[in-house]
Amino acid sequence: MRLPIIAANWKMNLLLNDARNWVKDFKHSLPELSSCGVVVAPPFTSLSTVKNELAGTEIQLAGQDIGLALEGAHTGDISAKMLKDVGCDYVILGHSERRRDHHESDSMVNEKIKIALSQGLKIIFCLGENEKQRQDGETQEIVKEQLLSGLSGISSEEINHIVIAYEPVWAIGTGNNATPEQAQEVHAFIRTLVAQEYGDAVASHIRILYGGSVKSKNSKDLLGQPDIDGALVGGASLVAHEFCAIINTLI
Ligand code: 13P
Repeated sequence: MRLPIIAANWKMNLLLNDARNWVKDFKHSLPELSSCGVVVAPPFTSLSTVKNELAGTEIQLAGQDIGLALEGAHTGDISAKMLKDVGCDYVILGHSERRRDHHESDSMVNEKIKIALSQGLKIIFCLGENEKQRQDGETQEIVKEQLLSGLSGISSEEINHIVIAYEPVWAIGTGNNATPEQAQEVHAFIRTLVAQEYGDAVASHIRILYGGSVKSKNSKDLLGQPDIDGALVGGASLVAHEFCAIINTLI
């Protein structure tokens, strides 16, 4: 039995005061969490504030990226060590916006996964095809390439600290979510690949989240699919009660 995870990726949104209000509202309508894990990924600037505000809850904290070094002369970077220090449990890696805006390659994502693991962070490892790749029938090829490159050199012990997030680029921020059937097809494919690389036991335990225009209106159908183990939510996570409504579809 896989415990689902619902994760909020705030991206570059919410100022400190908004973050405080979000947590206040969230706690107010906080659902019973025994049936899922909840992760919140604020921007770096509000990690500490959100960590303090969440004290006493079971919500876990995530950073949205790490640099390739642990410390030193890397102006503007934030290290895995720093995320751990501020109280993060997770880091999101390989997000398509990092790949697009910062030219992150599969091998860079792989390097970051290894660095994050070395610092005791769990990872939400994002992958997914873009619109053209889907139209050209390359979805499986792209997903396989990103998955296997990202996990290159990761042991079957280490993979227990990794959650995969399938985020088709064409569904992110567009309002056009993958249909439950489209998402399920890719999730099942990812699980098969994990089974081939790491065996059936690992594959049956690993959580594979779906991300891309998830909201409370579509989350029940998406989360009802056998290989969809939760959601990575962008836009709809910015409003606490909408995020709670998505969590509530699991209950
Ligand atoms: P949206 O939910 O805004 O489509 O974003 C999804 C996403 O990128 C989460 O990481």
